[in-house]
Amino acid sequence: MPDIVFSFGPEESGIVQTLVDAFNQQNPAINVIYREMPADTGRYHERLRTLFRRGGARIDVIAGDVTWPAEFASKGWLADLSGRFPQVEQDKFLDAPIEANTYQGKIWGVPWFTDVGLLYYRKDLLDQSGFPDPPETWDELKRIALKVKQDSGLQQGYVFQGANYEGGVCNGLEYIWTHGGDVLGSQQNRVIINRIEARNGLRTERHIVEDGVAPQRVHTFTEGESAERFLDRKAVFCRYWPGLYGAFGQPGELRRDQVGVAELPRAPGVQQGGGCLGGWNMFINAASAHQNEAWQFIEFMTDEARQKRMARDGSYLPTREDLYQDPQLLNQVPILKLSKEALEHGRPRPIHPRYLDMSEEMAQWFHLSLTGVFTPAQATETLRRELTYIV
Ligand code: GLC
Repeated sequence: MPDIVFSFGPEESGIVQTLVDAFNQQNPAINVIYREMPADTGRYHERLRTLFRRGGARIDVIAGDVTWPAEFASKGWLADLSGRFPQVEQDKFLDAPIEANTYQGKIWGVPWFTDVGLLYYRKDLLDQSGFPDPPETWDELKRIALKVKQDSGLQQGYVFQGANYEGGVCNGLEYIWTHGGDVLGSQQNRVIINRIEARNGLRTERHIVEDGVAPQRVHTFTEGESAERFLDRKAVFCRYWPGLYGAFGQPGELRRDQVGVAELPRAPGVQQGGGCLGGWNMFINAASAHQNEAWQFIEFMTDEARQKRMARDGSYLPTREDLYQDPQLLNQVPILKLSKEALEHGRPRPIHPRYLDMSEEMAQWFHLSLTGVFTPAQATETLRRELTYIV
């Protein structure tokens, strides 16, 4: 009986292990082992790179970030799934994750769940302070955060992910996008990150700290620290992925009716949207000796029934389009309805075989701007040079 090793980060709701167990029970001839990888997507990525460089086949199925396929495929590390995952099947999935898994006309992964940056807010406290609606602009967010903080005695106005890592890139890009800026021009070959809109975005990010809306230490926050502050009732607003919703209503945690979810704020005059698209996908290691079994497991994990379970039990957003029309599921999983527009307006990070190098530069320079070591103008000018060299 072949052992299929499946890698993914730590999963708190327990639903992933439950599904792995269910697969093993239904398929007595295959034994899938869930190998836990680092929670930080960058560190997980590093682990895999080391493994691949050694020609390692110790992992068969990789659950990987939406930014990895182009790089991994260009290096020959992934099995081409075009034969097993034809266009008619791909058509049942959301467009953005399919695009992210497509490189040089071939498909390298099956979208498992999707993500988009959202604004969570303490609806109860906003109401008490006389704000019936969430903020639409960054200035409003600052004003409301400071007022509610004062009225309620909460320690922090806004928490987000500002550390020097991939999540910091997602947040930095969101500030840039919600000010009308971008990294690459529409042809994807010119770096335009030094334009005024992008600079303004990073300036807003920095001011949110300088004005006392976000804590000084936000530049060390990853998902864990920011979620903890919000769940511990220490912050009015929190930028997070849809999965946080699953934590509300647990014993001792915030109740669902205390929390609202909205799209991220933006600068005046900029169109709605600008949440960073994320998400996780299933790849087969090209060096795996168990391609068929690996595929069987992927088909199971990404089918409709399993995506429903993941949504219900872990607040993971499905990648199958039909599930967004499923009235029963929409009722059972409010975050699905709440994130629908944000998903439609969401923006992908650049799809590029050298995205990881781009991301390392952005992580570092967004962080240097957030901590005030360099001005947004210096950071974006350096990024223009470095990114131009890379792309
Ligand atoms: C989430 C997203 C992923 C992103 C990561 C950053 O896991 O799904 O795409 O890279 O957060 O921390």
